[in-house]
Amino acid sequence: MSRILVTGGAGFIGANFVRRLLETTEHDVTVLDAMTYAANLASLADLDERRFRLVKGDICDTAEVDRLVSTHDTVVNFAAESHNDNSLAQPRPFVQTNLVGTFELLEAVRKYDVRFHHISTDEVYGDLELDDDARFTETTPYNPSSPYSASKAGSDLLVRAWVRSFGIRATISNCSNNYGPYQHVEKFIPRQITNLIDGVRPKLYGSGVNVRDWIHVDDHNDAVLRIIDRGEIGRTYLVGADGETSNKRVVELTLQLMGHAADDYEYVADRPGHDLRYAIDASVLRDELGWIPRYVDFESGLRTTIDWYRNNENWWRPIKAATEAKYALSGQ
Ligand code: NAD
Ligand code: TYD
Repeated sequence: MSRILVTGGAGFIGANFVRRLLETTEHDVTVLDAMTYAANLASLADLDERRFRLVKGDICDTAEVDRLVSTHDTVVNFAAESHNDNSLAQPRPFVQTNLVGTFELLEAVRKYDVRFHHISTDEVYGDLELDDDARFTETTPYNPSSPYSASKAGSDLLVRAWVRSFGIRATISNCSNNYGPYQHVEKFIPRQITNLIDGVRPKLYGSGVNVRDWIHVDDHNDAVLRIIDRGEIGRTYLVGADGETSNKRVVELTLQLMGHAADDYEYVADRPGHDLRYAIDASVLRDELGWIPRYVDFESGLRTTIDWYRNNENWWRPIKAATEAKYALSGQ
């Protein structure tokens, strides 16, 4: 049994990770989360406080990070500014949290020789053409497009440099787009589901041809657990479940599953610099660490996610109007 510090554990993937840790392991869990607009206390409200505690604090706070890291065996860093659209409107917090915050964690794990796992994204690799046979691998060169992906790319490079220069015990995972319960309604899939519940048509950026490689959040978190247990120090692992789907297809499927005509959506202004396609080759993770995704049928994973948002309106209702007001400012 060990003590795990989960930064950003009140956000989407982190909260699912904490729930999984408490359900499937014996570890004690501390969440360090700044409780930004992206956090939701309700995601952690029902957890067993004998093995779990929440500390409200910033990963950029040197003293707080030092204090917490010194009393844990492993740090898993989910804390980040995570939304591309926000990074275009206001890049500053992305540079601060994703770069400076990661730096503070690295200095602390270096000082106390604590195992570190850094959560990152496939967006560090830039994008692919629609008809390209290639997919991202661990050796694809970094080529980020947005302030979000550039700040994540920079954070990954800091981790690699701290491994090489200071010998810290760290791994990195770069995952494709996640979906599932507890995801903020600013993100594509929950935005469309909750819009439909509210009688608003789904909104597609640009022409809707952009492709994302969808993975269920539980499959991502299973991979993270596996990497923490068996991953090789210093390595980067790509996480993806062969879920390539165009945005248009996602919207059509969502409409159908929610009992609407498949073409009952609208096109809105495109995102500047909008990445065309992401696609992950996860064969290293599968072959070397034996990871196998469980949610291979996107349609059934989407159906379960729709049910979750239908049954948990009290979780998302308080943040919906403010999210849509923000989108209205950019005509989206
Ligand atoms: P999220 O926005 O839902 O949650 C981020 C959490 O970090 C929030 O609880 C927020 O309060 C917290 N946070 C932000 N700044 C902080 C700070 N300075 N100090 C402490 N806590 C802070 O994000 P998510 O979708 O759960 O993503 C988690 C991680 O996974 C991110 O690093 C993201 O880049 C990565 N990732 C996300 C996806 C995806 O599809 N969502 C895919 C691949 C990788
Ligand atoms: P998003 O969830 O923001 O994730 P990311 O930018 O990390 O891929 O968006 C997923 C895709 O959906 C992306 O191509 C942008 C598109 N999108 C829409 O078409 N409509 C929307 O309302 C939103 C939020 C996103």
